[in-house]
Amino acid sequence: MNRHNILIFDSGVGGLSVYKEIANLLPCANYFYLFDNEAYPYGELAPDTLVDRTCRLIQQMMQRQRIDIVVIACNTASTIVLPHLREVLSIPVVGVVPAIKPASLLSKKAVGLIATPATITRQYTHDLIRDFADDKDVKLLGSSQLVDMAEQKLRGQPTDMIHLHQILEPLVDVIDVAVLGCTHFPLIREEISQVLGKGVELIDSGMAIARRVVSLLAESGDQEGVGIKEVFSSASPIQEEALNKALDDLGFSPVQLIQIQDA
Ligand code: DGL
Repeated sequence: MNRHNILIFDSGVGGLSVYKEIANLLPCANYFYLFDNEAYPYGELAPDTLVDRTCRLIQQMMQRQRIDIVVIACNTASTIVLPHLREVLSIPVVGVVPAIKPASLLSKKAVGLIATPATITRQYTHDLIRDFADDKDVKLLGSSQLVDMAEQKLRGQPTDMIHLHQILEPLVDVIDVAVLGCTHFPLIREEISQVLGKGVELIDSGMAIARRVVSLLAESGDQEGVGIKEVFSSASPIQEEALNKALDDLGFSPVQLIQIQDA
């Protein structure tokens, strides 16, 4: 048996949107989903804390489980954590950053970047805009409330469309392409599309990341059967029946605790 062991990391359930894209291409791999719910939301966390927690949690996870590739399925973390992780790990690390380049190529009017409050302020993001969308008008919208809405939707709660409209208002009738610059947002893609209108193209990085993962896994793994699917969180998932149900629907076993250890 030669199943790839893929570790996917996020602050919450947003990375599941990336998991779905990877699992479409690699349905027989083993998946380990790790989320730092103790420090959620990452969009409001100090950069040093974020780097420290991400590196420690992933290293702890790798002490208990052989992993072939790490996917940082979080824009907020990827925009600062990747160089640090690559320094301490000897396996490939793939990150996800806002899809500014394809959005800019598509847009004839203006691009909206919808992300966390942290991502829209990152130097990395501003460098992306300077390098790939210099000739475009890029409107930035950072919101942790949108992240919460995605968390709630996965737990079966309906999205408050009036509230969503209020949050997205600055982009309505202004842009023709929106970058979903947070992995939580594909989980509320239809709702966002309903507010922005059918004429606005929504772009995320999930598919590109999945292709990158495939290209980095040198040998092809098992092409038959179903792999293990386990979930780990940094804070106790007690009272999280709705979450465990949603994870079960995706084939994952109930959430296990992996508490962060002191350095
Ligand atoms: N899913 C994350 C991202 O892609 C982070 C959301 C949060 O915890 O603020 O940015």
